Amino acid sequence: MADIAVIGAGYVGLTTGTCLAHLGHNVTIADVDEEKVQKLSGGEIPIFEPGLSELLSEGIENRNLKFVVGAVNASQNAAFHFLCLPTPPNPDGSTNMEYFSSVIEEIKAVLPTNSVIVNKSTVPVGTTSQLKKQIQRTDVEIVSNPEFLSEGNAVRDFLHPSRIVIGAESQEAASKVAALFSDIDAPNQITGTESAELIKHTANAFLAMKLTFINEIATLCELVGANVLDVAEGIGYDPRIGSTYLRPGPGWGGSCFPKDSASLLQTANKAGFDFELLEKAITLNQEHLKRTAEKVIHALPQGKGVEKSKIAALGLTFKAGTDDLRSSPSLAVIDHLLNLKAHVSAYDPMVNLPIENMDNLEISSTAYDAVNNADALIILTEWQEFADLNYERIYEAMSHPVVIDARNVLNPQELEQLGFQYIGLGQ
Ligand SMILES: NC(=O)c1ccc[n+]([C@@H]2O[C@H](COP(=O)([O-])OP(=O)(O)OC[C@H]3O[C@@H](n4cnc5c(N)ncnc54)[C@H](O)[C@@H]3O)[C@@H](O)[C@H]2O)c1
Repeated sequence: MADIAVIGAGYVGLTTGTCLAHLGHNVTIADVDEEKVQKLSGGEIPIFEPGLSELLSEGIENRNLKFVVGAVNASQNAAFHFLCLPTPPNPDGSTNMEYFSSVIEEIKAVLPTNSVIVNKSTVPVGTTSQLKKQIQRTDVEIVSNPEFLSEGNAVRDFLHPSRIVIGAESQEAASKVAALFSDIDAPNQITGTESAELIKHTANAFLAMKLTFINEIATLCELVGANVLDVAEGIGYDPRIGSTYLRPGPGWGGSCFPKDSASLLQTANKAGFDFELLEKAITLNQEHLKRTAEKVIHALPQGKGVEKSKIAALGLTFKAGTDDLRSSPSLAVIDHLLNLKAHVSAYDPMVNLPIENMDNLEISSTAYDAVNNADALIILTEWQEFADLNYERIYEAMSHPVVIDARNVLNPQELEQLGFQYIGLGQ
């Protein structure tokens, strides 16, 4: 079993570290955030991720999982160094690699001889070569091992992945990394580092385009009287298309798709390639988010004016099953509404604090508080609890009973029977 350092205790680092410890390795997870390290050392998980807490307790109890402040304290004794650092976007869409440069500067002198850096973050093509130049250590290999987990299913995705991609310049380094995952039953794909890096960006850009496509079909369905749910089901049976990522929504977002698509577009631009298809998918998504907000505006009582209206919004996280608000499409739709000076009252089971840079957004502690006297209700995140609410009670509480179901989670007939005006998406 190997001695492993994991640098960065976020969604990916925590999942990677706790799962590697679960597989029997000796893992030290480092972060710069002292408070986070303290909480984790005490068995407290700062994010919502099903199954993670149990693995954390297991690792702490078995004494093969610990937490430290600072990358050096984890890396100085490890044979493998997993980089799970943020790769946020720059204003032009390219990837900000400052976290990487600073961690490499920090650890390069203390890395034990012949140890291996394994990059799990999503990075632009060419990053491994860049890091290699920066580190100036011929004995240290850098391997790209992109992570495909999705939040809300992170532990399951890590332990039962569809594939493990390992990009390495030498077969020896690739085999060393593959051996760490030998207890995981999944196809291993060994490639060059550039291909491994591009696989991750391509996967996310492709999924984002698939969502744009079904959102466009949803708009078409509304115009021609078809039902997008039937269309999606019908095409999803075709194994060449596949049934996942065909659920229309308010627009795609989250911590990965927007930044990774933008970064891939930048990579293409830099390489002199006009990637029109991807660029269009990104702009169409922006338009779709705006269109979702406009649906709400059109549904408000005539003559009342947006400024005097109250809109209830259910769902703030970028999808159900996570507490992650980064680039959430729900927030993008709400932002459009706030810019039009609407009074928005929102509820999300995972959010109870004000949202940064959204001072005018009222956060309610229950869905029923949010809908009180509302002139419209929009469902923005597909939490099961929103489908299970008492809509009779909601009908009584609202001033103008109209529901815009941007996730198609409610039963249109049931709501219409209660007296609601129901506006779904693509149906
Ligand atoms: N979140 C996902 O669903 C997901 C899935 C696959 C891949 N990825 C990629 O994985 C990477 C990490 O994503 P994330 O969501 O885990 O990010 P995150 O922001 O949740 O976590 C990053 C962590 O790194 C820590 N950190 C920053 N600088 C540090 C330093 N110098 N030393 C030690 N720790 C430091 C931060 O404090 C934070 O805890 C990104 O490239 C992302 O695109 C994310």
